[in-house]
Amino acid sequence: MSYNLLKGKKGIIFGALDEKSIAWITAIKCHEEGAQIVLSNAPVAMRMGEINKLAEKIGAPVIPCDVTNNDDIENLISKTMEHFGGGFDFILHSIGMGVNVRKGKHYTDIDYGFNVKTNDVSAVSLHRVLACCMKKDALNEWGSVVALTYIAAQRVFPDYSEMADAKALLESITRSFGYHYGIKKHVRVNTISQSPTRTTAGSGVKGFDGFISYAEKMSPLGNATAEECGNYIVTLFSDLTKMVTMQNHFHDGGFSFTGVTQAVIEQMEK
Ligand SMILES: NC(=O)c1ccc[n+]([C@@H]2O[C@H](COP(=O)([O-])OP(=O)(O)OC[C@H]3O[C@@H](n4cnc5c(N)ncnc54)[C@H](O)[C@@H]3O)[C@@H](O)[C@H]2O)c1
Repeated sequence: MSYNLLKGKKGIIFGALDEKSIAWITAIKCHEEGAQIVLSNAPVAMRMGEINKLAEKIGAPVIPCDVTNNDDIENLISKTMEHFGGGFDFILHSIGMGVNVRKGKHYTDIDYGFNVKTNDVSAVSLHRVLACCMKKDALNEWGSVVALTYIAAQRVFPDYSEMADAKALLESITRSFGYHYGIKKHVRVNTISQSPTRTTAGSGVKGFDGFISYAEKMSPLGNATAEECGNYIVTLFSDLTKMVTMQNHFHDGGFSFTGVTQAVIEQMEK
């Protein structure tokens, strides 16, 4: 069901790799709610060609951008402004990659070159995108920016490894840039801390199957799905949440504030 919550709004959605991606599902939701969208992903990810199916479905152009490359970001923001004929209203940063995790390096023995890349892709990229938007005055008054994060930024989940540190940095940039963009143009910047979700990035975490079942049992409402995450993101892009900024919002069925559940106790007693 559509409520036209984003009627007349325009924005960029980063990170739709395939139909399981949180960004993919969110792009469809934003389109259903009346938004016009520009899709972007890293050139290497776009070679798979999947994103073109989504682009066709929602009538969106696709503009490649490696978010660690300032020239790519400048090009994306300029082309997006040309496409929309001026500024736009929202950005979804749905991007993450743990290079040491991918290469099987343990947290206690990381390669620091890989680690710089992990932080750049997963966290500093938010700063790069916001800084470019500010320079070009690309975001409209009361614009809204959302980035996706995970609770390993606050509590230890050992197999999340260096990505925990990257998410902590992402959440900090959200607050710091949110302050400056709020003062300058009432632009809001928030993170959503999502339940474990079966996507390409999610499944890269070691022991993901056991972990997703554990999180399900530890959440009074169960794990939040990508669909539900998309709905939540729509509300943050809408004018109904205008005064919300610099926050991390747990979208996790109650996991973050649950000490233990009956289901987990029963499992332990077996
Ligand atoms: N899946 C989960 O369990 C889960 C839970 C909490 C938060 N998140 C976060 O949600 C976000 C989206 O991930 P997802 O689960 O939908 O997985 P996904 O693999 O579908 O999306 C990750 C995206 O990041 C993009 N990306 C990687 N390097 C890039 C670069 N240099 N430039 C531009 N784009 C680049 C990939 O191409 C991909 O589209 C990530 O930030 C992830 O950490 C995921």
